[in-house]
Amino acid sequence: MTATRMPSTARSAGWFPVARAAEVGTTPVPVGAGGRSWVVVRLRPGAEVSAFPARCPHRLVPLAAATVVEGRLQCPYHGWRFDGDGRCVDVPSLGPDGSAPPRADLAVPWAVEERHGWVWLAPERTAVGLPPAPSAAPVPEPAPAPAPPAGPVLGNLHPALEHAWHPVARSRELRPGGWLQVRLLGRTWTLSRTAAGVTADPPAWGVRERLGVVWLAPAEPRGADLAVPEDGDRRFVRGWLPPARSAGPAATLADALLDVAHLPFVHADGGEPEVAGGTVTAEPGGFTVERTGGGRRVTSVFRAPFLLRQRTDLDDGSSRTLLVLLQPEDADSTRVHACVLLAAPPGAPLPGPDDVAAAVTAEARALDEDLDLQAQLESPGLPLDLRAELHVRADAAGVALRRTLADLVAGR
Ligand code: FES
Ligand SMILES: [Fe+2]
Repeated sequence: MTATRMPSTARSAGWFPVARAAEVGTTPVPVGAGGRSWVVVRLRPGAEVSAFPARCPHRLVPLAAATVVEGRLQCPYHGWRFDGDGRCVDVPSLGPDGSAPPRADLAVPWAVEERHGWVWLAPERTAVGLPPAPSAAPVPEPAPAPAPPAGPVLGNLHPALEHAWHPVARSRELRPGGWLQVRLLGRTWTLSRTAAGVTADPPAWGVRERLGVVWLAPAEPRGADLAVPEDGDRRFVRGWLPPARSAGPAATLADALLDVAHLPFVHADGGEPEVAGGTVTAEPGGFTVERTGGGRRVTSVFRAPFLLRQRTDLDDGSSRTLLVLLQPEDADSTRVHACVLLAAPPGAPLPGPDDVAAAVTAEARALDEDLDLQAQLESPGLPLDLRAELHVRADAAGVALRRTLADLVAGR
């Protein structure tokens, strides 16, 4: 049988065969039509096919990773739901009385039809009718990668990242007299521990050790250090998480680590989806976000480019701090250095090895869930133009992150 490519990919008017109808069920299928990427899906078993643009407007997550829930398409990151017309009918973080902003609606194609055993998609209004039954099986366009965000992004190879201290290894990985190769900003550096201290080849502006980590600054740093008062405080006991890597940029992982609205969806933590954004205070080189409620106070301190200290103080006087230091290795690789620091309530014995092991296990599991999502994002970097995404009340920390990193890029 002769295969016939139906419409040209050079235009987006007309009808495009995108998938065999029998192959479209309640799992979104990425397809291409008119040079753009879409997903097609049935919002109930056996229902008509619906078509949506390839990315969620909130954080641009590919909707190929979405699921169908109660007849709606649900984004995997924060659970926004869309009906068959693309209307955003639920933003869980806004609570049951919240209404989605108009820009949350998806720009669906003009029409989608099933005919001759195929799903046909018309991206734009067209006066042309559906083609008659083809004599040969149509050949759909390959689904292109979802379009990158509009405007500038911060990926792992951005030149502005030269002017910062980056974590590149745990101190204990570099034994006396030993050497170690590390990746940073798309380059390989060889670290050596000599009698005079740690050196780097090729030479860097600086190499130092702090918090049990080796740091390297390719060029003179412009930012501020992340203060970690728990380090050196004898009430705190530390445990490192196993080594981990993200298959995406450090900035998008930092965004996820600061984000609260994803917790019920990515981590299924059983928490209420409705969240307040917290109180954000801008500081030199970063910001602090504070949230209180449920018998605890959570304080997240962020310093550019990718350093985060998240401390949870409970009403009983105990504390738990998660320290996350991100190493932008390559465009699609970020190494995660993370540890927990635990303090018992006043007067109680220090946390024991079992307490530390349990906290490390819990944090490592949550990090794994975040890394799974990062692998699905297909993100070239974090959008720095606030108009490239859609922000709601729960995104206060994410907005502060984008402003901080935009300042870094601008050399402010
Ligand atoms: S709901 Fe889609 S990215 Fe947030
Ligand atoms: Fe998370």
